[in-house]
Amino acid sequence: MKDGYSRKINYMRISITDLCNLRCQYCMPEKGIHKKDHREMLSFEEITEIVKSAARLGIDKIRLTGGEPLVKKDIVKLIEKIASIEGIKDVALTTNGLLLKDMAKDLHQAGLKRVNISIDSLKPDRYEEITRGGKLNQVLDGIQEALHLKMAPVKLNVVVIGGVNEDEVEDFAKLTVNDNIDVRFIELMPVGEASGWAKERFISNEEVKRRIGGLIPLINDTSGPARLYQLPGAKGRIGFINPISEHFCGACNRIRLTSDGKLKPCLHSNHEIDLLKVLKEDPRHVDEVLQRAILSKPEKHYLYTTEHEIGHRNMSEIGG
Ligand code: 5AD
Ligand code: SF4
Repeated sequence: MKDGYSRKINYMRISITDLCNLRCQYCMPEKGIHKKDHREMLSFEEITEIVKSAARLGIDKIRLTGGEPLVKKDIVKLIEKIASIEGIKDVALTTNGLLLKDMAKDLHQAGLKRVNISIDSLKPDRYEEITRGGKLNQVLDGIQEALHLKMAPVKLNVVVIGGVNEDEVEDFAKLTVNDNIDVRFIELMPVGEASGWAKERFISNEEVKRRIGGLIPLINDTSGPARLYQLPGAKGRIGFINPISEHFCGACNRIRLTSDGKLKPCLHSNHEIDLLKVLKEDPRHVDEVLQRAILSKPEKHYLYTTEHEIGHRNMSEIGG
């Protein structure tokens, strides 16, 4: 269906847990987050009901995120269920990749076509520092397994942070040469843990593009926020996701569901609708509430403007 600004909304991102096996500096506090009572969280049955309702309104693409979705028990079954819902054409996953190697085959068989893997450094020590303890090798093994299963293109998400990993942008770009890997550079956003320091460490994607050099622009896929390029002769592509320098709200096609059952029409607004409550009280109203929520989607975000509301959620609760 269309929202109030004639944007076609066909994509829902669902955070299935706010827990994570990493503590990335820009995302999670070092001590982790307080584990919520499971009664406050969406069950798999409730997620399935909401997806059915969303599918009736024209949502055909679902992405599962976290926290880290692969720490959630039985995620394979959930994917199987979602993939079988009428109207759902595409199920994808965003993961840190730590657990991917052993799970990829089952996930793939359950109907998962593609994965996005977050990886901010190719240097083991640095990766461990950024993620506060992650083992890079596990992620690299996960990437290889996804390639092996032809979950292509395997998309790698890299948040570029000034003074931390900016010297690695060329190394990341080179990963696209021989494999069907898309590397997507994401501008650091002043949200959650990064609210206080994102501005000082911000590197624009214009700058990243300049440093890589020699990129050939591709026809842009209008269904996503990434601006696509390619290195000459490369198999994979390089994408730039510029939430800060070029706001792409005009082409936004998505809504988000948090792990505690709140629907967020926009990532950067505190406006939320308690779908879990509606579902518990009277499931017949879910379609209608969801429809109203889509119509309430704001026109754009107000980051770095005076109207910006400071978010009360960390990215780990919303799922990026
Ligand atoms: N800025 C940009 N991206 C972020 N993510 C989390 N926090 C931020 C932030 N402050 C995204 C990253 C990560 C995914 C889980 O969420 O892309 O890969
Ligand atoms: Fe976990 Fe992803 Fe947040 Fe890192 S960015 S702490 S991997 S949810």
